[in-house]
Amino acid sequence: MISVRNGAATRARLAALGGYVPERVVTNAELERQVDTSDEWIVSRTGIRERRFAAPDQASSDLGLLAAERILAAAGIEAGDVDVVIVPTATPDHIFPSTAAIIADRLDARNAAAFDLLAACSGFIYGLAQATGLVEAGIARTVLVVGAEVLSRITDQADRATCVLFADAAGGALVIAGEPGRTTGFLGFELGADGSGADQLCVPAGGGRLPVAQSPGREEGFIRMKGPEVFRFATRVMVESTERLLASLEMTIDEIDLVVAHQANRRIIEHAASRLGIPDEKLFNNLERFGNTSSASIPLALAQARDAGRLRPGDMLLLVGFGGGLTWGSTVVRYEPLEAGPR
Ligand code: ACO
Repeated sequence: MISVRNGAATRARLAALGGYVPERVVTNAELERQVDTSDEWIVSRTGIRERRFAAPDQASSDLGLLAAERILAAAGIEAGDVDVVIVPTATPDHIFPSTAAIIADRLDARNAAAFDLLAACSGFIYGLAQATGLVEAGIARTVLVVGAEVLSRITDQADRATCVLFADAAGGALVIAGEPGRTTGFLGFELGADGSGADQLCVPAGGGRLPVAQSPGREEGFIRMKGPEVFRFATRVMVESTERLLASLEMTIDEIDLVVAHQANRRIIEHAASRLGIPDEKLFNNLERFGNTSSASIPLALAQARDAGRLRPGDMLLLVGFGGGLTWGSTVVRYEPLEAGPR
């Protein structure tokens, strides 16, 4: 586990945000016709009312490309100036080549290195940590982190326990080198993993242990989740990760302007918020309309918070995620957008 105050003399800067959701809206009423569930059950247990599914011809790279274009437009940065593209995703287009390489090519980020990162729903926070490290070590100056998911493809749409939760979207951020002496930016990270809970949230087939070609049935290709166990894990780590991070930064929640948590379940977020003393007005949630989009959920919510006027330049953000692995992560960062585009 890492819990660090960022000691860099010049800190990396969170310079732009962007998100994309596919057009198709899947309401709870539609799921009521598909499985034995009800709008009342889904809303009361999760807070989700509708979600988006990608079109049949859209994969993660297609969604991620559109989010990446919006991020660069917001920053006024050319694709050729991007040094690294990192794509956190649990639903890459392929095992290889990486979805990041495909996005970089289609973006015309011809000078960029590119790689995928697998930390499930913690992927965006892990990706921000990677980007910060690359920038502050002087290895890169401009890094795109784009979470992109088509979770509808790996969700059994006949399984009421999971099909109401998972959805498709992309969202991301631009992390750039700060000017010399910049002491704001990413103040610290708390990251962790506990593989002893690997079986609580997994997709059994598709990797080297159970290749698709040897899978006995199609259900091994779908998400398996022990819901109540994941629920307990999520509420615990959201609280502990945030507390450890704030302690290492010698900060309190009062110094945070906006909290964006992984959008898995409203009850998880409310439970953690009440334990941490986070008032409602400091929380931004969008899961009611977009469900759980894994590595895309935090950056998509950030971009929507910006568009709704809830996130303003200079705001201090607390971001916290958790998910398969099991993994978790949090960061505190000041939002300092470049001036070029809509903010
Ligand atoms: N509609 C109606 N009933 C349902 C549904 C549904 N969609 N899903 C489950 N049920 C039933 C179950 O069958 C069970 O019935 P039973 O008592 O007759 O056996 C009953 O509801 C209670 O089931 P639980 O799983 O105990 O319900 P719970 O209150 O725990 O809520 C939920 C389930 C919403 C999945 C919750 O456990 C949860 O949110 N867990 C965390 C999930 C999560 O966040 N996963 C993503 C993590 S991030 C990542 O990495 C992808």
